[in-house]
Amino acid sequence: MKPPETFSTDRLLVRKPRRDDAAAAFAAFASDPEATRYLTWKPYTAVEPVADFLQARADEWEQEDGLFAYMICLRGTDTPIGSIGITIADGKAVFGYVLGRAHWGQGYMVEALRYLIAWSLAQPKIFRAWAFCNVENPGSARVMEKAGMVREGIFRRYHVAPNISPEPRDCFVYAKVR
Ligand SMILES: CC(C)(COP(=O)(O)OP(=O)(O)OC[C@H]1O[C@@H](n2cnc3c(N)ncnc32)[C@H](O)[C@@H]1OP(=O)(O)O)[C@@H](O)C(=O)NCCC(=O)NCCS
Repeated sequence: MKPPETFSTDRLLVRKPRRDDAAAAFAAFASDPEATRYLTWKPYTAVEPVADFLQARADEWEQEDGLFAYMICLRGTDTPIGSIGITIADGKAVFGYVLGRAHWGQGYMVEALRYLIAWSLAQPKIFRAWAFCNVENPGSARVMEKAGMVREGIFRRYHVAPNISPEPRDCFVYAKVR
């Protein structure tokens, strides 16, 4: 089951990544220690590895299930300002996201996430749309709430954020189900 390769919201164009998005992604968020603080990966120090990463994400669009990564652009542009991913498996869709700091606080991620939650729960085989965030990341928790998910609890010692420490940290779990 595959989500659409491209979708639009009021202010965003969200599309499949391309290798040549690397320089813009590097500048907007992939090299930024603050934007990547709670993510699974460390900030990049060069563009070429970002290109390899995006190529791998683009290739994954050939599969039927699993991770589908998107680049987020402002409508009317083709320049990535962030990224959102949906992983589909076992009747569930789980999301992850990052936005360039210059674009925080304007509701963009809520817009992208809302679309993917609605798409997920409209699929006959998906019953749960969910995500998690570090308990120290209130901005991300708020994004999930604003996108219509409900906090279900805390996964203790669940996720390693290597920019903070090698030990797994507690995470809030949010979901919308049908
Ligand atoms: C999390 C992130 C996507 C939020 O994106 P955004 O476009 O700024 O989000 P929005 O503008 O839609 O909403 C953010 C909400 O969180 C709130 N918020 C942001 N930082 C906050 C903080 N430190 N404490 C409390 N609330 C905070 C904002 O006030 C806003 O809520 P409001 O509209 O009710 O005022 C962005 O900050 C980001 O990319 N962070 C780094 C990557 C990351 O942490 N990803 C999530 C990993 S789980």
